[in-house]
Amino acid sequence: MIAAISSRVEVLKYLESFVAENLSSFLKTVEESWQPADLLPDPRLDNFFDEIKLLRERAKSLSYDLFAVLIGDTITEEALPTYESWLFSITDMPNNPDSAWTKWNRGWTSEENRHGDLLNRYLFLSGRVNMREMEASTQYLIADGFDLQTDMDPYRSFVYTSYQETATQISHRRVAQIAKREGDVVLAKLCGYIAGDEARHAKVYKSFVDKIFEVDPSEMMLAFEDMMRKKIVMPAHYMRELGVEIGQTFGHFTDAAQRIGVYTSHDYVNILEDLIKDWKVEHITGMNEAGEKARDYIMALPNRLKRVAERMKPPQREYKFRWID
Ligand SMILES: [Fe+2]
Ligand SMILES: [Fe+2]
Repeated sequence: MIAAISSRVEVLKYLESFVAENLSSFLKTVEESWQPADLLPDPRLDNFFDEIKLLRERAKSLSYDLFAVLIGDTITEEALPTYESWLFSITDMPNNPDSAWTKWNRGWTSEENRHGDLLNRYLFLSGRVNMREMEASTQYLIADGFDLQTDMDPYRSFVYTSYQETATQISHRRVAQIAKREGDVVLAKLCGYIAGDEARHAKVYKSFVDKIFEVDPSEMMLAFEDMMRKKIVMPAHYMRELGVEIGQTFGHFTDAAQRIGVYTSHDYVNILEDLIKDWKVEHITGMNEAGEKARDYIMALPNRLKRVAERMKPPQREYKFRWID
């Protein structure tokens, strides 16, 4: 049994050695990483234009909603500067080259950076996107930032990232499945690669929370409860288009995602159930009264949310995005 640690600074320090020991499995080296260029036509080759023609043919077969979701996903990935700076501003998060935390944060960013690059380039080549409108949305999103309600607390932040990376993994995986069904096997492969990264990242963040539960169970449980009470918001919740009010495009984007089953309110509950199972919330010991109460709230939540999700009807209204002509 590890002695209880009660301050966030100490816990981050304690976790730092865990991060250092496991960094080589948490991240892939540059040498072994895929790059966007591996998955897209090579402009140096004579068959470049033929390849693009094929890419455009395949992209034509994709449904409107799927395309809209793909663009929204891309904009979300492209707002990476917001996420990186957010990670470094978590309270007591070290920012020096020798810290394993810094190595993780930088390494995570370097892997994530490929996601936006890859999707953006695919969309550009597809010929179906009004690139200027999409780029304006990206600029808006980075300028608008986000409000995740984590209060810059490491415990809340790791609950958030555990949730979020899992949600992203699910949505990229589903886009891949639908793309395959609709006849774009290359897009399916490309989203599958991204989903693979997201799955590994989710595992890492979940392991941070696991570790914190070992040494500071009550505070970790309270942080989990607090995040669930506030509800996990998506990082792109301020998404908008030119001439559209802040956050409104995001609503249309999630409607489309819900409509085609890329990410639904059932997924939200499923992720919560998985986290409860992975973190063995039911069996955590050594908590104070407040921690016990927080656990009760969390354990009862999935069933409550399921009832709400069942009552929700899939949104029917189709919206005309400015990103697609
Ligand atoms: Fe990503
Ligand atoms: Fe991610």
